[in-house]
Amino acid sequence: MKATAKAHTNIALIKYWGKRDESLILPMNSSLSVTLDTFYTVTTVEFDEKLTEDVFFLNGEKADHTDTERVSNYLRAIRKFAKKHLFAVVRSENHVPTAAGFASSASGYAALAAAATKAIGLNLHPQELSQFARLGSGSACRSIYGGFVEWQKGVKEDGSDSFAVPILHEDDFPIAVLSVMVATNRKKVLSRAGMKRTVETSPFYQGWLDTVEHDLSELKHALELRDFTLLGEIAERNALKMHATTLGANPPFYYWQSATMEVMEAVQNMRSQGIEAYFTMDAGPNVKVLCLPEDEQKVYDQLKQIPSVKKIFTCHPGPGVTFLPTGEADVC
Ligand code: DP6
Repeated sequence: MKATAKAHTNIALIKYWGKRDESLILPMNSSLSVTLDTFYTVTTVEFDEKLTEDVFFLNGEKADHTDTERVSNYLRAIRKFAKKHLFAVVRSENHVPTAAGFASSASGYAALAAAATKAIGLNLHPQELSQFARLGSGSACRSIYGGFVEWQKGVKEDGSDSFAVPILHEDDFPIAVLSVMVATNRKKVLSRAGMKRTVETSPFYQGWLDTVEHDLSELKHALELRDFTLLGEIAERNALKMHATTLGANPPFYYWQSATMEVMEAVQNMRSQGIEAYFTMDAGPNVKVLCLPEDEQKVYDQLKQIPSVKKIFTCHPGPGVTFLPTGEADVC
């Protein structure tokens, strides 16, 4: 009753922003991301009939009550589906610089979904696995697959048609994603709370909904054509639009810091010098810069000159979820 899985983080090029169902984590809009090779989580789950509660270790240490409760609530759905009342020991190793503000919920819940469902004896199709990952954190459903991945929002109330589908394999369109760390302080408004407030109070949210599906179909067209310029333009535009909705919320909020804007400006300046680079940001101050692999060193060198840039991680499209021999969580 033990299994180990490895899953990578992803960055959305078309953002998931807003839920139509909070408990089933059903999104208002479809989204599209690229899975990244550099950051990942390895999780081992062991169900044991001797246990009387779930136990969660994060990076070798017993997790606090809040994190353990979230994992335990998540495992409840898997127990119910498998019709087995067993508690588990969960060990997660995060190879994501979370203290630097990089989110780990996507890789975390994708790895947990894969390890827990396998350990409890379910042998799921990736599409079903994607639905299970979604129940932990929406963006996690996309990390089941590698490369470029679409999360189809679905229309059914039970969420049975809301899951990710692979669009392009990680080797099919080589791009570089430079993860630029500008701040080490933790974000003030978590994405879950931020999207809820935006849906409920921002008059700009309707504008998001009116245009996001069009952005998505244009981005899919860019992928089909392997048109990096089109991909970058749409991704940057979509990110700015998502962030604009938060300014209309009540109370208003924003995820950027002054350093975020310095990076954005540097990227736009690079374009005026003829270097093709584009930016996107999730619910935090760090920036992801998209460019072609042949330009990644040039872009890296320019970004490094910005005094408020603390660290840059170079990423490329990465693989989907994989199973490892059990016990590898501690050595990866
Ligand atoms: C801005 O997946 O973290 O990164 O479903 O509430 O857990 P929950 O939210 P989460 O939100 C991600 C929002 C985003 C955009 C994206 O990844 O598509």
